Amino acid sequence: MSRIAYVNGRYLPLRDATVNIEDRGYQFSDGVYEVCEVRGGQLVDERRHIERLTRSLAELHIAMPLTPLALGVVLRETVRRNRVRWGIVYLQISRGVSRRDHAFPPPGTAPSVVVTARNLDFAKAEQLASEGVAVITVPDNRWERVDIKSVSLLPNVLAKQAAREAGAREAWFVDNQGRVTEGSSSNAWIITRDGKLVTRQADHAILRGITRTVVVDVATAQGLELEERAFTVEEAQGAREAFLTSASQIVIPVVQIDGRPVGNGAPGLVATALRRDFHRYAELT
Ligand code: PDD
Repeated sequence: MSRIAYVNGRYLPLRDATVNIEDRGYQFSDGVYEVCEVRGGQLVDERRHIERLTRSLAELHIAMPLTPLALGVVLRETVRRNRVRWGIVYLQISRGVSRRDHAFPPPGTAPSVVVTARNLDFAKAEQLASEGVAVITVPDNRWERVDIKSVSLLPNVLAKQAAREAGAREAWFVDNQGRVTEGSSSNAWIITRDGKLVTRQADHAILRGITRTVVVDVATAQGLELEERAFTVEEAQGAREAFLTSASQIVIPVVQIDGRPVGNGAPGLVATALRRDFHRYAELT
């Protein structure tokens, strides 16, 4: 079965699904995106993803080209046409096509909308969760508005590649005070020795992950004490547990940071319980 993408109003086989070379997403990475988990063919936390998308667009002064309702229809239809049971749906909106000029294109230029969807390997994801992953740390050299989910991801790409080359799954960005901000495509968490759940406050230095928001709800229901604050690499290495969160991975235990084991070097009980309960608190539609 060939994969199908939605491009500006049409559903097309992937090989025919193209955008203009003067699309500002291509020329300037002038656009935003969302990645939403698909579970049993349903969207996980669609409402929150579309809310965040609306905010990202507003911050960049890109007009929302479809109503949230219409966008939901397109997301679901793309999932259906690709027969995704468990995987992801990807949505990208750029400022549209216009003769190359850094300044915004003329008013009325239509934003470009692209949606793709694909199945992920469920067994492999479960294996990662049960074994835990290694992370490395890299300097956070991104701009100061990474709270906007823009497609401008070059530092993230380089950080992820550095992780791969080091045999690790993820790279954690570290600010100039030695404190972890977030992963190249995930949020970062620890459980302190005295059992507190710690993740960086959601200011402009991190993306406010949708998974992060739901994990806070799960943790609260489980009676965990939450501290939203920065933590250093040393604190993370000395923590009882560490883990990362993202829409495509939910909760994945981190068992090694820069070659040092976290806790006893195996996935922790808290991370495992948060992963287990996650979908009871997420919205499936
Ligand atoms: N990444 N931080 C960054 C830099 C991210 O790219 C992501 C998600 C997150 C977690 O956000 P959420 O829980 O809403 O997925 C945090 C997506 C999955 C990606 O780029 O593929």
